[in-house]
Amino acid sequence: MTNAPAPTEWWRDAVIYQIYPRSFSDGNGDGIGDLPGITARLHEVAALGVDAIWLSPFYTSPQRDAGYDVADYRNVDPLFGTLADADALVARGHELGLRVIVDIVPNHTSSDHVWFQEAIVADVDSAARGRYIFRDGKGVEGTEPPNNWTSVFGGPAWTREVRPDGTAGQWYLHLFDSSQPDLDWGSEEVRAEFDDVLRFWLDRGVDGFRVDVAHGLIKADGLPDFVPDPTAGSMGGESIEPVPYFAQEGVHDVWRRWRRVLDEYQGERILAAEAWVHPLERMAEWVRPDEMHQAFNFEYLATDWDAAEQRRVIDASIAAFGAYDAPSTWVLSNHDTVRHASRLALSAENPQGHGIGPDSPGLPDAVLGLARARAATLMMLALPGSAYIYQGEELGLPEHVYIPDDARQDPTWFRTEGERYGRDGCRVPLPWEADAPAYGFSANGSTWLPQPAEWRGLARDAQRGRAGSTLEMYSTALRERSARALGAGEISWVDLGEDVIAFDNGSIRVIANLSDADVPFEGDVLVASGAAAGAVPPETTVWIERRA
Ligand code: NOJ
Ligand code: CA
Repeated sequence: MTNAPAPTEWWRDAVIYQIYPRSFSDGNGDGIGDLPGITARLHEVAALGVDAIWLSPFYTSPQRDAGYDVADYRNVDPLFGTLADADALVARGHELGLRVIVDIVPNHTSSDHVWFQEAIVADVDSAARGRYIFRDGKGVEGTEPPNNWTSVFGGPAWTREVRPDGTAGQWYLHLFDSSQPDLDWGSEEVRAEFDDVLRFWLDRGVDGFRVDVAHGLIKADGLPDFVPDPTAGSMGGESIEPVPYFAQEGVHDVWRRWRRVLDEYQGERILAAEAWVHPLERMAEWVRPDEMHQAFNFEYLATDWDAAEQRRVIDASIAAFGAYDAPSTWVLSNHDTVRHASRLALSAENPQGHGIGPDSPGLPDAVLGLARARAATLMMLALPGSAYIYQGEELGLPEHVYIPDDARQDPTWFRTEGERYGRDGCRVPLPWEADAPAYGFSANGSTWLPQPAEWRGLARDAQRGRAGSTLEMYSTALRERSARALGAGEISWVDLGEDVIAFDNGSIRVIANLSDADVPFEGDVLVASGAAAGAVPPETTVWIERRA
């Protein structure tokens, strides 16, 4: 099969690069990225010095939630290519020494999935409906939803079905869009089906799965109403109180079962949980030794750019995951969050998933945002554990704030009638070549979301080899991180002042200056996020060679 490195618990300190297929590179000129487009440019990702890629979904889907609404888990949507294209992409990744992780979406299917199509025409108590969560409505003639749960994308989490004879029927649960009905994981048939889907992709050579909504599969018995707790805290502007549809104990049985499936395969295939769970000690339960290998550290992502807060979350993460002998992960951006080159300079609270647009309060200053993003990334890449990079952050891309209303595509925007902008701003197609149509994303110049004019200067070819560019900072840091095994290291804090984050890891000292005064240092700079001669300026991180 491959030239992939020998198994050595590679995932413990891996740097994993997220590819969002719609927006990476368009191979056939229709304005939407695809698998051949990725394969053709995968050497650029390998050249950056990462260990693995994670691909967001490319399966058969009506694309009502950009592919997180899967209609056939064993096929590729024609928009993205064919199964042969997927095989070619996996093979190319392995040839380049990259592990290849794919997304799996078990909480819900698309309403176009054959199971849901069967369910909506089947008898009320049929097995076909038992794969989903159908319930009678409340009130006279069942006109009220079965409980008060709301969709993560806004609006109610229930939709009433129309029976084949045209009458209103039961309601079905969808924690996301109405085109994403939740599966009932109490069903053994559902469980067995997903074992089989895992095997389908493992047999094709993938190195693991990023598991979508890994906290959502099991709902509290009896589907009780959610009773808000006004004293609950928040994370990233979102309430962190327990809800009856997330982080239920029963999900862990599913992960133990999946782990057994993966362990049948050679080559250390991994599971990584997308689980928005609080606190960190709870999140770490997803990586107990017989469950998953990694969980995205969203508490880190949601932490303010504040030295004391950053030190706290780093210590707490290492302790929480370490309690299960698992690595912490570190992640600053993905396809659901405001890009960190913008988020870290927002001056108003912005709840996760709401996005930013022209009328959002506290819009970021671009220069400050980029400086902070570079400083934050450089600090992150020196931390022990596994780090995630979201495509385009190595170019310093900001959120695209000024997408015209009629170009927006995120279901969040539609379900909230424009009250929340949603996630389109972090999903804009990548700029590859400053002087090509669509900045090289697509041969004929079309892009499924518009690219801002300022991105010309951020194109990859404009940054490659340019001293001080964000791209060069990433590749230098990744090279040094790997050469010095920082991901397998340990940190010890150094006290350089309340507003300075400073630590040693092996042969380097890291200084991230969040204060407003210069921080002097001695020694040779290995890599810096900004100009640093003898002192680290504000909003800047440096790695310094430690003197023996
Ligand atoms: C999390 C995914 O990352 C997001 O993009 C998607 O909309 C939801 N899960 C629903 O699948
Ligand atoms: Ca295409």
